[in-house]
Amino acid sequence: MQATHLLDLQNVTKTYHMGDVEFPVLHGITFSVDAGEFVSVLGPSGSGKSTLMNIIGCLDVADDGTYTIGRRAVTGLSERDMAKLRNRDIGFVFQSFQLLPRISALENVMLPLIYAKVPRKQRIARAMAELARVGLADKADNLPRQLSGGQQQRVAIARALVTRPRIILADEPTGALDRTTGAQIMDIFRALNEEGITIVMITHDHKVASYASRVVHILDGRIYSAEEYAALESAEGGT
Ligand SMILES: Nc1ncnc2c1ncn2[C@@H]1O[C@H](COP(=O)(O)OP(=O)(O)OP(=O)(O)O)[C@@H](O)[C@H]1O
Ligand SMILES: [Mg+2]
Repeated sequence: MQATHLLDLQNVTKTYHMGDVEFPVLHGITFSVDAGEFVSVLGPSGSGKSTLMNIIGCLDVADDGTYTIGRRAVTGLSERDMAKLRNRDIGFVFQSFQLLPRISALENVMLPLIYAKVPRKQRIARAMAELARVGLADKADNLPRQLSGGQQQRVAIARALVTRPRIILADEPTGALDRTTGAQIMDIFRALNEEGITIVMITHDHKVASYASRVVHILDGRIYSAEEYAALESAEGGT
């Protein structure tokens, strides 16, 4: 059997429309991720990272090009089938945690299992197991505001894991955290990756990107090699 990439993007483009004005953001993105990889997508603000993440996460559709997950073509799927694929295969982690403020850490982690119609007893057991995995079993009853930023992000990771996705997609997961706390989150990602979960992490931060086993560089909606990227970045006066 021919080897298949887990994620495969070929010539993906995306243009936003604001009234009559067209705003092209992705200009033919081609790259793939194999099962079990930990890949970071590194690029400056406005380069199209979140736009790309939305497409990879089946939250938005490309205008052109093809995108496949496993053997499944995402391009052309209905909203409903995209949602199914997303709920089954992908766990999301965001910069701003996005926990519900009025319910406990445990209840936040249980939430995706309500949508998946898992019985309550199992929901509790599975959510507790994920909280334990990120080292927060003793904080299950805390509300988000009774947790530190790093702890809130660990709850968000537990929530992403509770449906047992094959892929974790993270957009600037350490963006709201200090370096030390960010490094702890990266250690959790590494451990998850060692357990076989594929991770795609978006960041503008070289140091954060370097935790991944491979870095994909994006600038103005195009993918570049590390060498090209470094040259373009220094030409732009970046660091
Ligand atoms: N819904 C939208 N409508 C119009 N333009 C948009 C929309 N979303 C993003 N853009 C524009 O597309 C470009 C890329 O945005 P995107 O959010 O993908 O960048 P990014 O690399 O994630 O940046 P950051 O590091 O600041 O999060 C930006 O110039 C942005 O203004
Ligand atoms: Mg972004």
